[in-house]
Amino acid sequence: MANELADFEKCYREGFKPWDSGVACPELLRALDAGVLKGKSLLEIGCGTGTNAIELARRGFQVTATDFVKQAIDAACAKAKTAKVKIDFRVGDVLKDDFGGPYDAIFDRGVYHHIRKVNLPRFIETITKVTRKGSRWLSLAGNAKEQHDPGPPTVSEKDLRKELSSHFEILELREFRFGTDSEEFRPLAWSILMERK
Ligand SMILES: C[S@@+](CC[C@H](N)C(=O)[O-])C[C@H]1O[C@@H](n2cnc3c(N)ncnc32)[C@H](O)[C@@H]1O
Repeated sequence: MANELADFEKCYREGFKPWDSGVACPELLRALDAGVLKGKSLLEIGCGTGTNAIELARRGFQVTATDFVKQAIDAACAKAKTAKVKIDFRVGDVLKDDFGGPYDAIFDRGVYHHIRKVNLPRFIETITKVTRKGSRWLSLAGNAKEQHDPGPPTVSEKDLRKELSSHFEILELREFRFGTDSEEFRPLAWSILMERK
């Protein structure tokens, strides 16, 4: 896993980013419409090219959005400029850097599900640092009931409950399908809504 950054940099450089559907994630829109992400300040982890961060800013959140691939953040900044929304984009590694906070809400789409295999304790440490009691976290992750190769990493319900429940109460666990850059490929996913204990 030492080449994790290099691997993602290569994906962006070569334009291989199946997760980048180009539209705001419908499951995020559903959660926003339901009002389950509360507060004002929000940190998006692994924001990629910023589509969901822009939607979150449009919905009134003060968004800080981070990704460790500079090319992704450059693209996100350009998209936010065109969309005329203000977002604090930062190139940063969630396993190494300080992102301030605590934030009212956290969002990730497709980060927990792979970083849990890189360094779960360090990731949970970061998430607890950037949240406080009552902060909510919506994590969208691949669902182990379906395996695709190539496809997103996945996690089982048993494992996600074991890994996340020490610091977060799982408020809702729903199944949905990820959108991708191909209409035919819609892998099964988890929508995990949590509240910091
Ligand atoms: C599957 S992609 C999802 C991107 C974006 N959330 C989306 O839905 O389009 C995972 C993203 O997390 C970023 N990432 C992975 N590990 C990271 C880390 N340790 N720190 C910051 N970003 C990371 C990758 O560069 C990539 O953009």
